[in-house]
Amino acid sequence: MPFTVVSTRGPFSHERVGGSYRIRYSAGGVSNSISRLMELEGGTWICLGDGTGDSAFEVEDHENYKIVRVLIGKKEIKGFYEGYANGTLWPLFHYFRERVHFNQTNYMYYEVVNKLFAETVKRNIDDDSTIWIHDYQLSLLPGMLRNDSVTNRIIFSWHIPWVSPEFFSTLPESKQIVQGISRADAITVHTSLYRTNLISSYSFVTGSDNGIDGKVFSIPLGIDNKYFSRKSERSHYPLDRTDRKFIFSIDRLDYTKGLIDRVLAIEKLLNLHPDLSEKFVYVMAVNPSRTSVRQYQIFKRELEFQVGRINGEFGNVNWMPILYMYKRLGESALLSFYRHADVALVTPLFDGLNLVSKEFVACSKDGVLVLSKFAGAAQDLPGALIVNPNSLEEMANAIKQALTMNPEERAERLKRMKESVEKKNLAWWLTRVRSLAVRKPHEVSS
Ligand code: G6P
Repeated sequence: MPFTVVSTRGPFSHERVGGSYRIRYSAGGVSNSISRLMELEGGTWICLGDGTGDSAFEVEDHENYKIVRVLIGKKEIKGFYEGYANGTLWPLFHYFRERVHFNQTNYMYYEVVNKLFAETVKRNIDDDSTIWIHDYQLSLLPGMLRNDSVTNRIIFSWHIPWVSPEFFSTLPESKQIVQGISRADAITVHTSLYRTNLISSYSFVTGSDNGIDGKVFSIPLGIDNKYFSRKSERSHYPLDRTDRKFIFSIDRLDYTKGLIDRVLAIEKLLNLHPDLSEKFVYVMAVNPSRTSVRQYQIFKRELEFQVGRINGEFGNVNWMPILYMYKRLGESALLSFYRHADVALVTPLFDGLNLVSKEFVACSKDGVLVLSKFAGAAQDLPGALIVNPNSLEEMANAIKQALTMNPEERAERLKRMKESVEKKNLAWWLTRVRSLAVRKPHEVSS
């Protein structure tokens, strides 16, 4: 039975350009993975319609599934999306206390939009539909559906980190958030630490455990590794051929991704090892993201200032250490970067999982992965060089180690990681989630 999937970000939106419409594909691992699942499995995908032309495509058939969009106005986008989801929950769940904005009006819009989703879900389910809700933007939805007498099986997948109970409880609406999610029949997170934190947060803020530990599962999202490895095999080297080593990264433009620390680590590398000057080029691709949120606009300026400063200091007419691109890369360019990079840098300050690291592993022919210990994927990728992104020295040393690693060690590390990515792939994830959908209901009242 196909799922009724619910997430704020859909596969793409429609932008009005003059008298016609242009499709804008979504950035981010969650929507990319759901897209692939929907193409394979069919079903209904309920998502936000926030593109300038989405009102003309409220219901749309795409590939072999149906898209239903929840249309909201500018005030709701500001309060719900920019305000509460991305100005409160996102920084809170990534431990950025100084960026968390507490604002009751924004929470009110968060409730309003979750309610709109609840009404849309109710209109689009049959008695035997399994409702599969995704991520922090919709934490109230399971509770709202239950209060509206929806008895269908509900699975909730939380894709970002879950913080410690005490830190979580700084959120004035912490009780509503955990009580909302706990009304699902099963909840998935990406690591066992997030699972422990979620369960203890529930008890910490509600004062009881209500059987929550029996319904939270740690199931890390995987990728369609065959698709990535097969497609990338046909790709060509993406740069002008030189003897220089090629370092690559791709991220959404987000302060959680450690982008500034990473370029400072490149500076540290060149200061510690001047002999590496002109020996590598670092291709840093950054996907525009949440461009209407002020914190993201300011962060972009800070990042670009640092990239310019470092290039100005170390570059010359023949070489710049950092080749910076602020744009969405096409698929074939991305796959060729993954395949041919000597080193990939995935060094977020905190990250629920990070699918880029797995995509790189699936595509790479002989690359080395430098990976933050604070990315959920670090649990699954034992062959990576694991770093603490808060230490520039540690990152610089790991990059040096990756650039100079002998071919045997590179191959052995990559092989171990490929095995893991192959085993815990997207189909594995889906099978495990599906098994939750057929378990006996395990209702937690709250
Ligand atoms: C992260 C979140 C997703 C979100 C994505 C893109 O991966 O876990 O829920 O969709 O970022 O962010 P956006 O604000 O564009 O949806």
